[in-house]
Amino acid sequence: MTLLDVFRSAHCPCTMECNVEAGDYPTLMPRQLHIKYYVEPDAAALARRAAQYFVEMVSEAAEAQGRAHIAISGGSTPKAAFQMLADPHQPWRARMPWQALDLYWVDERSAPPDDAESNFRMTREALLDHVPLHPCQIHRIEGELEPAAAAARYESELRSSFHLEDSQIPRFDLVALGLGEDGHTASLFPHTEAIHEVSLLVTANHVPQRKTWRVTLTWPVINHARSVFFLVAGAEKAAVLREVLTGERDPERLPSQLIWPSSGILTLILDQAAASLLPATDEEGCGVLERER
Ligand code: 6PG
Repeated sequence: MTLLDVFRSAHCPCTMECNVEAGDYPTLMPRQLHIKYYVEPDAAALARRAAQYFVEMVSEAAEAQGRAHIAISGGSTPKAAFQMLADPHQPWRARMPWQALDLYWVDERSAPPDDAESNFRMTREALLDHVPLHPCQIHRIEGELEPAAAAARYESELRSSFHLEDSQIPRFDLVALGLGEDGHTASLFPHTEAIHEVSLLVTANHVPQRKTWRVTLTWPVINHARSVFFLVAGAEKAAVLREVLTGERDPERLPSQLIWPSSGILTLILDQAAASLLPATDEEGCGVLERER
């Protein structure tokens, strides 16, 4: 499926002024979205659940097609799950089919790989330094480069590692996202250019509210993944999470609302504090929401 095929549809997902005719929007945004959220009592349980989910999704993809292409986010929330995955005293390190994994990043800060700001550094210290992944399985965004150059190089890295032709787009097996208190995800920040970008796989995004540049996958690529999940923790995220999932659609202000996977299914793994304003879950800690656009 080429990027142009993906964009040939009569459905327009948003109310924003975007640089594409309304009729050109992606079929990868089905009308209905089935949202499934799993709520864990605390940070340790959240990390275990996320580690379990990573192992399940990588194993599933490895069984189905021999390889698993996973894109992960940075920030602070995934760190404990990465440490759980890497811990030899926990069950997941032994269960993960590391040899089948190709690891990518959803976004990166403008920082060299050994910088405290670097998403790559966080992942290296929490996971990569402790697990049997060969360097050719690790596809990092070169945050040390000038943002536009880093974005262009990552786009070609995706094209070569996914063996893409012309304007085909990569289909990740799993994309793991976080949620910012301002409603951003990946490096798709409110009122920034990147949320209008639908013709590139990767883009450099100027984020004036943080006086910085970021490099990020674009939302059509994220939505094209086989599975997409949010990992969210903390009471400070409860209000924005409820707004993103149940509030008025306004992706310009809440870019996380652009995440509307082509599968029609969105998964969230949450701690109790982050889920505190969502409808109550069943006795297994599972909740469901249906969304239509
Ligand atoms: C980044 C991320 C970003 C992150 C959110 C949540 O580079 O920061 O990819 O999208 O997921 O900002 O961050 P926390 O997990 O730190 O709250």
